[in-house]
Amino acid sequence: MIVIKEAVKRFLDVNVLDHVNLTIEDGDKIALMGPNGAGKTTLVRSILGFYHLDSGSIEVDGLSPIKMRQRVLTNISFIPQTPPPIKLSLTELIEYVAKSSQVVPQAIFEEAKRLDLALEQNLSKPFFKLSGGMKQKMLIAIALAKKSKMLIFDEPTANLDPKAREKFYNLLEELDAKTSTIYITHRLEEVESLVNRKIYMDLGKVVEDERV
Ligand SMILES: Nc1ncnc2c1ncn2[C@@H]1O[C@H](COP(=O)(O)OP(=O)(O)OP(=O)(O)O)[C@@H](O)[C@H]1O
Ligand SMILES: [Mg+2]
Repeated sequence: MIVIKEAVKRFLDVNVLDHVNLTIEDGDKIALMGPNGAGKTTLVRSILGFYHLDSGSIEVDGLSPIKMRQRVLTNISFIPQTPPPIKLSLTELIEYVAKSSQVVPQAIFEEAKRLDLALEQNLSKPFFKLSGGMKQKMLIAIALAKKSKMLIFDEPTANLDPKAREKFYNLLEELDAKTSTIYITHRLEEVESLVNRKIYMDLGKVVEDERV
């Protein structure tokens, strides 16, 4: 469970998060929406402890994502809006993830296969040299293989072709009902059948929070 109280994050004197209050229960499946610049990415990055709040608080299962970063991240898989420029080859990346997150490499291979990512042919390639869609598939495969309590996707399908998009959503339908998920998206129709809650942000505030 995530409890956000009066969260304020300022960049250049602008409240990018402006007194956000939100409680996310275990098993919630959330579509997080709102215009460009609304603060969606900033909110999830704060949940993940990437950003220090200027005031207010965030607790993930009672823990501060800043002070207990390692513990908090153990239970969360995050697919960023822009893939990081990882220099490791796919083999090295898989080894790294296996060691650091107790993920079985075989599980990554299986998820990749289901997303039509030609993993075997690309194992020696550095991650940053993959195509945009391949990077996204790789990150999704790792996230799903990790079997986290919570998945956070920041516009995960932006680079995926229509077929890959469909496969991705099929995989999500199989997720355990207890898994909490946050989808940041501009395409509600794609996640509508997967969510039980729609949250809209604008100008750093939660302006609508609807259970469906
Ligand atoms: N690291 C940063 N430094 C300075 N300003 C930032 C930083 N990150 C975000 N911002 C600003 O905060 C505001 C909200 O950005 P954010 O990325 O959270 O929006 P978003 O809702 O995710 O938008 P989009 O739909 O375009 O992804 C924007 O005005 C952005 O310029
Ligand atoms: Mg964003």
